[in-house]
Amino acid sequence: MISPTLPAELRAALDARLQGFSRTEAAQRSQKISTTYRAGGGSGTIKSEADALAYALARMPATYAAVAASLNALTEIAPDLAPETLLDVGAGPGTASWAAAEAFPSLQDFTLLDANATLSRLALELARDSTRLAECRYLPGDASGNLAEVSQADLVIASYIIGELSEADQRKLTEAMWAKARHALVAIEPGTSAGYARILALREQLIAAGGYVAAPCPHERTCPLIAPDWCHFSQRLPRSQAHRQIKGAEVPFEDERFIYVALTRTPPASRAARVLAPPDIGKAEIAAKLCTEAGVAPVKVPRRDKAAYASARRWRWGDAIMSES
Ligand SMILES: C[S@@+](CC[C@H](N)C(=O)[O-])C[C@H]1O[C@@H](n2cnc3c(N)ncnc32)[C@H](O)[C@@H]1O
Repeated sequence: MISPTLPAELRAALDARLQGFSRTEAAQRSQKISTTYRAGGGSGTIKSEADALAYALARMPATYAAVAASLNALTEIAPDLAPETLLDVGAGPGTASWAAAEAFPSLQDFTLLDANATLSRLALELARDSTRLAECRYLPGDASGNLAEVSQADLVIASYIIGELSEADQRKLTEAMWAKARHALVAIEPGTSAGYARILALREQLIAAGGYVAAPCPHERTCPLIAPDWCHFSQRLPRSQAHRQIKGAEVPFEDERFIYVALTRTPPASRAARVLAPPDIGKAEIAAKLCTEAGVAPVKVPRRDKAAYASARRWRWGDAIMSES
């Protein structure tokens, strides 16, 4: 399991670039970028080096934490997965590549693809002195058009990019990414109902194309959740002083809500029920909402069942519950 916190090399590279960068300016720029995202816009507002830095300062820690949690879920279900090559689609500042390098010591070859030249430059600068990513390849241009030219990779990651495309382009990109994924594909989106809908569409499309779901779902059936219910998870991460300053936040942590799906070409060796919400730990029993192979089940574990209760006390939102427990 990898930590949700940025690796030391990445933090140092980011801190070096943030030296002398006014926090007021960073706050204004990141505010503008967030407003665009909330209004349904994309990364098009990230134009200057200062915009890219402000974006990285504001968003890289949280997206890193979400990717780390998603990759942890994948490695838990597919412990034998040892990708050597990675394709990071819509890589931005390279966040997912850094997380994948931590999650998979086997990775040797990193290809980052992005349409935004400013973010790409920052990604290359951040990676320059990295032990693992210094030799990474950066491909410019539109992912939907460019993927045909790219070699297959053992693992393909699409972190917070799908929402920037039209529905028709999302389908095209999904197909193209799957064609490039030799062993696995992981897609991560914001943990909103719209993000869930996009992940669900990708999941259905790729199951129809022969993919298996390694995580979070323990099955390939239609998602059993009924609207307005939707699936998402939350990852807590430490908030740096600089992040507190630009966000005007008091607490020393942030909670990133996200949704993901990890698909593999071969069936996962094991299946695990997934905790879909924070369990309610009562005096008499623990009540939890689990997604199981049979559907979504509200589970109650009574205190008198000592071993099961002790085990259920450790359940956290997003955890995989292996069948023996
Ligand atoms: C929200 S950022 C996420 C960046 C990075 N994956 C992360 O998790 O931090 C979305 C990225 O997708 C890129 N992007 C959006 N549409 C794209 C397209 N059609 N082709 C290539 N990149 C695209 C943007 O330039 C931006 O860098």
